[in-house]
Amino acid sequence: MTDPVTYELTEGGIAVVTIANPPVNALGQAVRAGLDAAFERFASDSAAEIAVIVGAGKLFIGGADISEFGKPLKDPWLPAVINRIEACPKPVVAAIHGAALGGGLEVALGCHYRLALPGTTLGLPEVKLGVIPGAGGTQRAPRLMGLAAALDMIPAGGTLTADKALEAGLIDVLGEGDDPRAAGLAYARDLLDQGAKPRPTGEMPMPEAEPDAIEAARATWTKKARGEVAPLASIDAVEASTRLDIMDGLDEERRIFREMMETPQRAGLIHAFFNDRKVAKLPEIEGVIPRDVGTIGVIGGGTMGAGIATAALLRGLPVTLIERDDAAAAKARETIAGNLAAAVKRGKLTEARRDAALDALTAATGYDALSDADLVIEAVFEDMDVKKAVFAELDRVAKPGAVLATNTSYLDIDAIAASISRPGDVIGLHFFSPAHVMKLLEVVVAEKTAPEVTATAFALAKRLGKTAVRAGVCDGFIGNRILSHYRAAADGMVLAGASPFQIDRAMKDFGFAMGPYEVADLAGLDIGYMTRQRKAADRHPRDVVPTWADALFNKGRLGQKTGRGYYVYEGRKGTPDPEVEELVAEARTEAGVTPREFSDAEIQRRYMAAMVNEAARVVDEGIAARPLDVDVTLLYGYGFPRWRGGPMHWADTVGLPKLVSDIESYAAEDDHFWQVAPLLRRLAKDNQTFSSLNG
Ligand code: NAI
Repeated sequence: MTDPVTYELTEGGIAVVTIANPPVNALGQAVRAGLDAAFERFASDSAAEIAVIVGAGKLFIGGADISEFGKPLKDPWLPAVINRIEACPKPVVAAIHGAALGGGLEVALGCHYRLALPGTTLGLPEVKLGVIPGAGGTQRAPRLMGLAAALDMIPAGGTLTADKALEAGLIDVLGEGDDPRAAGLAYARDLLDQGAKPRPTGEMPMPEAEPDAIEAARATWTKKARGEVAPLASIDAVEASTRLDIMDGLDEERRIFREMMETPQRAGLIHAFFNDRKVAKLPEIEGVIPRDVGTIGVIGGGTMGAGIATAALLRGLPVTLIERDDAAAAKARETIAGNLAAAVKRGKLTEARRDAALDALTAATGYDALSDADLVIEAVFEDMDVKKAVFAELDRVAKPGAVLATNTSYLDIDAIAASISRPGDVIGLHFFSPAHVMKLLEVVVAEKTAPEVTATAFALAKRLGKTAVRAGVCDGFIGNRILSHYRAAADGMVLAGASPFQIDRAMKDFGFAMGPYEVADLAGLDIGYMTRQRKAADRHPRDVVPTWADALFNKGRLGQKTGRGYYVYEGRKGTPDPEVEELVAEARTEAGVTPREFSDAEIQRRYMAAMVNEAARVVDEGIAARPLDVDVTLLYGYGFPRWRGGPMHWADTVGLPKLVSDIESYAAEDDHFWQVAPLLRRLAKDNQTFSSLNG
């Protein structure tokens, strides 16, 4: 193995310390030891007057080596290495390109001078992994950029571009060109010419203590973090920088860092981080070459079709969208233009790129417009006959090899595929609303879907900036199937005595972005109603039917879009509608139920037990390839708190035997709904975890 850190004395007394630890120059033990040795050598190398640290490859340093998290820390520790760099009796320069993140930025902050090339990203994203910067970031960054800017960046786990970092004082100069070594050497020469001395960040004055700014940050993050601890802990560490000298501040930072390392939240966030990478690794598409996708067709320009078209246009993919008539096509174009304008307003898109995106959109009528599309996504009404008619037309006009996708939420994709002459080209691409915002894409692989079609779907997801999860065909696939079940558990609790508003509150306290009834109001109560109608024939006599929800539908209270559903809306802000409680009370009377009280804890336990139990069935049946696919689905499509890792990870932390005993105790009341899923029972019996199935 080659040395990950090299020391080289160049002409003119400039030592170049190069970190080469592909792919991201992570600060694993060998790199830390290499840096330590390099600076020990630099300090005693009388021919060296100044040192420059550079990263080989695409970036400076990507951060800590996450595979070392949760294990005993190996010497030398990063804080000590950085302290050694900072204490060097001769100046040290960081020549940064690509990215300096987490520990990577902390190394740079420990240097005496910092140069970054244009386009570099600098930041401290540690809180996103449930920890805080632990190698001086919370002490040195505020000394360079001031308290307010540090409070903007660190609790958010945010990043800055090089020009913003220059403005903020985090770096000293913006370099030129794209060669960090050349830029670093030139800067070092200038510094030598100027007679520059070491300039330890730690010896700079403490940032001014501003108690109001600290309190405001705490208030903001208490609200924003919804139970997540690291952002608030990072504020405590930044606050320490305003009253402690560097060594004491570093100790305090370290103390908080170690505390964070031990939290279950850190484990949950790391689990989620690794799942993001594992979820696209599927044996069935390994080495399979995706088909080329240069143009996209979309059928239907309603809520989903317009959103899907927007998602593609935002990523530079030309789109041909067809609607039923000219008026509907024009309306779809208008919606898409509105979405793009909103992206410009949020700074996500330049006006020039917006104009180019609009030019790349064709809104038409008639299927012939789709004859050139490489991949077509159907997003028409959720009705099997309509879908089959659409696919028959696609079969007629689509070019050979075109991928034919449906955005259906529930319908049988095998049946759709079987109705045309090229079932191997058919796949489900289940986007979430709003499709240009939501990260999740369920890739529903039907019985006859060709592996290269699946590979194409995953490649497209990547291009669209989405996280794709492989799902099998069943009613609701992974996400909506599990949702139906935990929503049924919620309805069961409402009938038994809990209020929908209490359930929403309890689940938000658990960490969900929204409660189930807020979600229902957002999606539209017509959707739930239609689903109940569709499933009515298969209903079991003991299934809980939320007749109050039917009543809301019948009164035209469809949720946010009509200004009233479970909540009464002023804009997007809803307040509980007391009439809902009356409708629920009527339903209880009709069902002969005497309402009882539920604690928030019981609500959370039952809701989660239902979620995990159905998820176990979904995994057992192969609808989800692994438990991690469930975790990713719930995180990116259903507002599950990321710091809890996902429902399967959460279940592992609670312990599967505990979940089995919970479900068995609920079954004493209702042994129709509450039946322990076979996989859950097996794993609990063997003292195993869901994670053990992730491979
Ligand atoms: P929508 O009712 O907003 O839009 C459907 C559009 O399709 C309408 O504009 C209609 O004019 C058009 N259309 C119908 N037949 C057509 C045809 N033969 N040719 C061209 N255009 C046609 O419905 P939405 O909500 O966009 O749903 C579409 C599909 O996406 C459904 O299968 C639904 O289950 C699915 N879906 C919906 C989600 C949601 O949150 N709304 C989420 C994920 C999937």
